[in-house]
Amino acid sequence: MIRVGVVGARGHVGSELLPILFRHPEVEVAWVTSKSAAGTPVQATCAAAPAGLDFAPASVELLARRDVDVAFLALPNGEAPAWAEVAGDVTLVDLSSDHRFDDRWVYAQPDRFRDAIVGSKRLSCPGCYATAAQLAIAPVASRARGTVCAFGVSGYSGAGTTPSERNDPEVLRDNLLPYSLVGHAHERELRRHLGLDVCFAPHVASFFRGLSCTVMIDLAEKTAAESLVAAYRDAYRGSRFVEVTDAPPRPRDLVGKHGVRVGLPAVGDDGARVVVVAALDNLLAGAASQAVRAMNLARGLDEGVGVLS
Ligand SMILES: NC(=O)c1ccc[n+]([C@@H]2O[C@H](COP(=O)([O-])OP(=O)(O)OC[C@H]3O[C@@H](n4cnc5c(N)ncnc54)[C@H](OP(=O)(O)O)[C@@H]3O)[C@@H](O)[C@H]2O)c1
Repeated sequence: MIRVGVVGARGHVGSELLPILFRHPEVEVAWVTSKSAAGTPVQATCAAAPAGLDFAPASVELLARRDVDVAFLALPNGEAPAWAEVAGDVTLVDLSSDHRFDDRWVYAQPDRFRDAIVGSKRLSCPGCYATAAQLAIAPVASRARGTVCAFGVSGYSGAGTTPSERNDPEVLRDNLLPYSLVGHAHERELRRHLGLDVCFAPHVASFFRGLSCTVMIDLAEKTAAESLVAAYRDAYRGSRFVEVTDAPPRPRDLVGKHGVRVGLPAVGDDGARVVVVAALDNLLAGAASQAVRAMNLARGLDEGVGVLS
């Protein structure tokens, strides 16, 4: 059994990680932390938790004991490095953006970087928008010309639990909030991990979970629509986690699902531009499920164990 700890287990992402890990046939959850609920039973918020397990205080001393094989860090951005410093040989799966630009960490997007993840002990999981956008762009990345534009709309769980305008249901009611229209962290992440110039404009909507990302890609050469369609079908043929759909996917259909849907490209009349939509559940395929897939691969297990089974 793989002994696992979860830091930030009461946040939106942590709350999705816990049921997957408690039900995972190869995992024993040793401890889970919460700053605000330390000492209270985990079962009160997660029905899959065993009786008698309480949230532990979120102190790095816990990880410094190194009594687990794997620790998931589901913390706000900026908090993970302090935990990484004391982790030693423990495999870390960091869901924040803190290590996405660090060459010592593997960028743990399993559909694109599966081989690099296998055996790695430092796994930096992609952002939720960045997951959708890169899976929408990757099949034609080598044919792109100039700047790829991405337009994202997320449910407000993407903004975490710390109260802000972006997770305030009253502000969001019948509304759409654009934010970080230039320089969003996922824009830099996409540039780095696709090797392309990407501009990304995120928005928050009034639904709780789910995300849609529309990418617009100019092509270096005019290309027949059949060839572009084939590129998408070939890229994800046989994938258990990426489904290519004829019509653009819709985020509500992906809620509660571990996989991503990428619609076949809409191709402009002149064959020089494609528009592609990808949708996913930001808390699962864009976070918790993707992180567990990465752990599975890193530990030599089948990628789908505990996620699909
Ligand atoms: N939400 C998404 O859609 C999504 C998707 C992909 C990646 N991510 C990334 O995943 C991470 C977690 O996101 P989230 O949405 O779950 O955030 P969240 O809902 O705000 O949860 C954060 C968790 O960390 C705990 N925490 C806060 N400050 C802490 C500190 N200084 N030390 C220890 N624990 C602390 C919180 O405290 P308590 O335990 O007291 O509640 C909570 O359990 C973020 O880095 C985010 O960028 C989020």
